[in-house]
Amino acid sequence: MRAPDIIMRKRDGHALSAGEIGYMIQGMLTGEVPDYQISAFCMAVFFQGMTPEETTALTMAMADSGRRVDLAAIRGVKIDKHSTGGVGDTTTLVLTPMVAAAGVPVAKMSGRGLGHTGGTLDKLESIPGFRVSLSEREFVDQVNRIGLAVVGQTEDVAPADKRLYALRDVTATVESIPLIASSIISKKLATGADAIVLDVKVGSGAFMHELGKARELALAMVDIGRMAGRRMAALITDMNQPLGQAVGNSLEVIEAIDTLSGRSGGRLLELCFELGARMVVLGGACDGIKDARVILRRLVESGAALAKLKEMVEAQGGDVSCVDDPGRIEVAPLSTLIRAPKDGYVCRADALTLGRAAATMGAGRQRKTDSVDLGCGLRVLVSVGDRVEVGQPVAELFASAQSRLDEGTIEATSAFAYSDAPCQAPPLIYEAVEA
Ligand code: URA
Ligand code: CA
Repeated sequence: MRAPDIIMRKRDGHALSAGEIGYMIQGMLTGEVPDYQISAFCMAVFFQGMTPEETTALTMAMADSGRRVDLAAIRGVKIDKHSTGGVGDTTTLVLTPMVAAAGVPVAKMSGRGLGHTGGTLDKLESIPGFRVSLSEREFVDQVNRIGLAVVGQTEDVAPADKRLYALRDVTATVESIPLIASSIISKKLATGADAIVLDVKVGSGAFMHELGKARELALAMVDIGRMAGRRMAALITDMNQPLGQAVGNSLEVIEAIDTLSGRSGGRLLELCFELGARMVVLGGACDGIKDARVILRRLVESGAALAKLKEMVEAQGGDVSCVDDPGRIEVAPLSTLIRAPKDGYVCRADALTLGRAAATMGAGRQRKTDSVDLGCGLRVLVSVGDRVEVGQPVAELFASAQSRLDEGTIEATSAFAYSDAPCQAPPLIYEAVEA
């Protein structure tokens, strides 16, 4: 086999065999196929796409490129959940304790933020002492003991995806459905869950900007997962405005605790009930989504879900007093308000722009090696469709340096638009992909 022939065949729109795809992925790892050929291959895939069989072959090649985590020692159906990436998207911290409290074991491996999107590991590290790296033994024991662990993915899981993603990131080949689907599902297969619930984001702050494309991505991921013997469900959800109020690590952890304490609700809690209900059903703890939703709501109202979060924080060495009093979680010292410039209706609170503003203030990375300032970010105080009066605060910003606060203020201000006539709020959930 020769890499130039394989690239040419893909360029000309032919379907590749599993052997040819495996050759490229293995060759990338051994160095036999250099980065420039892998980059050209990705661009050919970007333009020509892949058949479901090719996407599955690519997924399997990446899943098998490193170690597969063995969760067999965990009792019961292990549930994982994955979001394709968003802004103000704190669902993991809210819904995993809820689902665990419902008796379904959650063994979750999470990532860090990149660009304008947040990552669960960074958020968890804003709880003093919280350890995101556990040994596989500790991970399995903790899930068996308390039903919940959220940790970082180890370096040896799907190394081909890491290499490929780094190349795609700098060759304008990220937004390809077969490449995204294989990237996400290869990691999920390698980390061992029996059932996976996907939150596929669509909108300005997501990789997919059109509903049709998001649906295609969701179907591709559900199909690959099923072919690999996993139980799958997906929701296509809105990412035109941030999901929750908070954008930024400490701020999002505070919001997650407030949400589980009943002090905060809105879209974030609603989506957690919808995703969580599907996790509970796939986990076999309940037959119908409707009943599962009722169970989860009760677990939040009774404080059981919050207690489960506290158990996890304690088990992973975090300061549990932060859960009782989220005011103890440190937020950046400088803050300012953005106010509505006129009476009217909020017709835009753009997720991408707000995510970028938070990153500008220090909440995100531009490169994987950058460190983040956990206390920075913003709170969006309005939603699309809300009526506002001139001077009413629409966002509260937090930064550690005045220059960054000023820069973030300019950026965040441009995220909002107002109209005299009422505007319609976008739906929270566009559709469910179950088959
Ligand atoms: N998230 C991933 O893990 N991979 C992609 O390609 C896109 C989003
Ligand atoms: Ca975020």
